[in-house]
Amino acid sequence: MEIIAPSILAADFTRLGEQIAACETAGADWIHVDVMDGHFVPNLTMGPFIVEACRRATSLPIDVHLMVSNPGQLLEPFARAGASHLTVHVEVCEDLPGTLKTIESLGCLAGVTLNPDTPAERLRPALPLAGLVLVMTVDPGYSGQEFMPEVLSKVVEVRRMLDEAGSTAWLEVDGGISSATIPQVREAGAKAFVAGQAIFRHPAGIAAGIRSLRESRKGPGG
Ligand code: DX5
Ligand code: ZN
Repeated sequence: MEIIAPSILAADFTRLGEQIAACETAGADWIHVDVMDGHFVPNLTMGPFIVEACRRATSLPIDVHLMVSNPGQLLEPFARAGASHLTVHVEVCEDLPGTLKTIESLGCLAGVTLNPDTPAERLRPALPLAGLVLVMTVDPGYSGQEFMPEVLSKVVEVRRMLDEAGSTAWLEVDGGISSATIPQVREAGAKAFVAGQAIFRHPAGIAAGIRSLRESRKGPGG
């Protein structure tokens, strides 16, 4: 099974509930929420308050991506607000296993993520505990950036690490995912795909955006 996770960072916030409902009707699997603290990344976005609103708008799992310097203090508020998955960055986690265990004890799926420049090896301590591994395919911070093809080899490497460890964790990718780039990450072994612009800014609408991601396959030439 493949997961499509619309990133609401690219949604029209004056119509958030409506757009989340449209994603659900169109067969989206998870709703991805990008939390940015203005410190780990320059941008500042959403807190537990928005997750709580999303929780009322959908029954889909809410996939919370914490781009924050201090994830520890935010785990409980986001879990209480209704997050289903909590994903933390290895770059800021001093005690990765401890953080993942805390997430699990809060009843959420424990996720871990890597920036494009961070080596896959940094995941090693998380492998026995992570239910989700997110490989960033752009530098985090903004929607609408260009996919970084140089990260593909790391997706392959992470796939191998998970398989060798006997892990059933989701391998998710995030950033610049479109009908043009999804075939490459799928081939590299990703199973869950976050997309912002490709869904919310699709010229034919949300349902067409989701459909085009699901149906994109490599052409005969590539
Ligand atoms: C980037 C965020 C992404 C972003 C994806 O920092 O983590 O989830 O919203 O947006 P697109 O698909 O437009 O690159
Ligand atoms: Zn994200």
